[in-house]
Amino acid sequence: MINDELWYKDAVFYEVAVRAFKDSNGDGHGDLTGLTEKLDYLYELGVDCIWLMPIYPSPLNDDGYDIANYYNIAATFGTLDDFKALIDEAHKRNIRIVMDLVLNHTSSEHPWFQAARADRNSPYRDYYVWSDTEDKYRDARIIFIDTEPSNWTWDELAGQYYWHRFYASQPDLNFDNTRVQEEMINIARFWLDLGIDGFRADAVPYLFEREGTNCENLPETHAYLKRLRAFMDQNYPGRILLCEANQWPEDVRPYFGDGDEFHMGFHFPIMPRIFMALKKGHAHDMIEILDRTPAIPESCQWCIFLRNHDELTLEMVTPQERQWMWEQYAPEPRMRLNLGIRRRLAPLLDNDRRKIELSHSLLFTLPGSPIIYYGDEIGMGDNIDLPDRNGVRTPMQWDDSPNGGFTTGRPAIESIAGKLGYQHLNVARQLADKDSLFHAISKMIRVRKQHPVFGRGRMEWKETGNPAVLAYRREYQAETILILNNLSEASQTVRLEA
Ligand code: BGC
Repeated sequence: MINDELWYKDAVFYEVAVRAFKDSNGDGHGDLTGLTEKLDYLYELGVDCIWLMPIYPSPLNDDGYDIANYYNIAATFGTLDDFKALIDEAHKRNIRIVMDLVLNHTSSEHPWFQAARADRNSPYRDYYVWSDTEDKYRDARIIFIDTEPSNWTWDELAGQYYWHRFYASQPDLNFDNTRVQEEMINIARFWLDLGIDGFRADAVPYLFEREGTNCENLPETHAYLKRLRAFMDQNYPGRILLCEANQWPEDVRPYFGDGDEFHMGFHFPIMPRIFMALKKGHAHDMIEILDRTPAIPESCQWCIFLRNHDELTLEMVTPQERQWMWEQYAPEPRMRLNLGIRRRLAPLLDNDRRKIELSHSLLFTLPGSPIIYYGDEIGMGDNIDLPDRNGVRTPMQWDDSPNGGFTTGRPAIESIAGKLGYQHLNVARQLADKDSLFHAISKMIRVRKQHPVFGRGRMEWKETGNPAVLAYRREYQAETILILNNLSEASQTVRLEA
């Protein structure tokens, strides 16, 4: 592999739901060997780093973000040996792999929680956050507002309430307990020793709770994350931490520290504003949020995305903007979930090839490293009949054979029917057609990779005198690139100063 410690600044990332990607053994579930078989496809697309959604044993109340064992792989995904084979094969192609590390909570089925609830004197009791009443930490918001009435749930066996920021089946760990802190470092060590290139650290703002605060982004949380980073730098240089903090830019900024906390952080607020720009035909909202985004240390990088496995979150917009986004992009109530929109990229953009390419032009040229959600490179659709976020986690559509080439068995997850079904829209067809969306995106990726300015360069807006055309200059070392995006339906004329 190319040995550059700042590799993530130039990389194109690709998020994979292993469950939905490729089944190698006909049991109906996507698995690690299936993903290994498809590495050549990802290589052809131009991907540098894969992010694996959780692959740990789990009761799947939250699609694997509810972990029951941090030291193994769910049987349907394969074995630790399959995992090592995947890493080896990926590395041979100069592709890195990062995986989800869920620090904030476990599954309620995790043996720690089972021991904790069964016995007040168990050493595991204090691994979680308990209370006799529901009165503590009232200022913490509820995140899954569609399903959770409270962040506290009564546990009959324990005889107390326990704290959880997500589903009740995901009790929060108590990071005030130094043994919990150690456990997570040991877990990280285990996967790093297997060769993983880093972690997407899930839901990090919520690690600690303090009365009188909203229990997000607390100094104690940053102190612990810095410790995790120091551990990685000391023992595993070149491996990265990617921060999932769905927060305003000024609140994400501290997660980069002085270059001693996270290497990368998702830029959540720019995402809905890209969709606003595409609909409004001007980029005022994008400009405003990027101007408000603080500078980050040289060694750090934003990670930008159009869609991911969750709902298109509308937490980082005003209530009026959220209403507008719902009206524009989620006309049917069942398209909404919590404070977001549970739809995929192509249907959101009316399956309009020009809009899809324009959105990728923004994704690949704005400051940061881009991440593509599996299937968006072929314009895959969604299935809003499926509950929760499952409608955007349907099987990858490889070809027009039964089940779209996802499995030779009975698929454990439902696919998409209709004109975006695998019979019409699939990888094989797009690979064979040089004018397909796949080839257009893979070409954009190749262009991006020829010019380090996209990952590393400074950015400056350029006045065009025409709000429909968003122009900016990227500059790095001897190279300067001018980028123009026409956000309107029609041809536009602009005048640019030299
Ligand atoms: C993940 C979600 C998950 C939640 C709880 C998030 O930020 O992206 O899919 O439900 O964390 O783990």
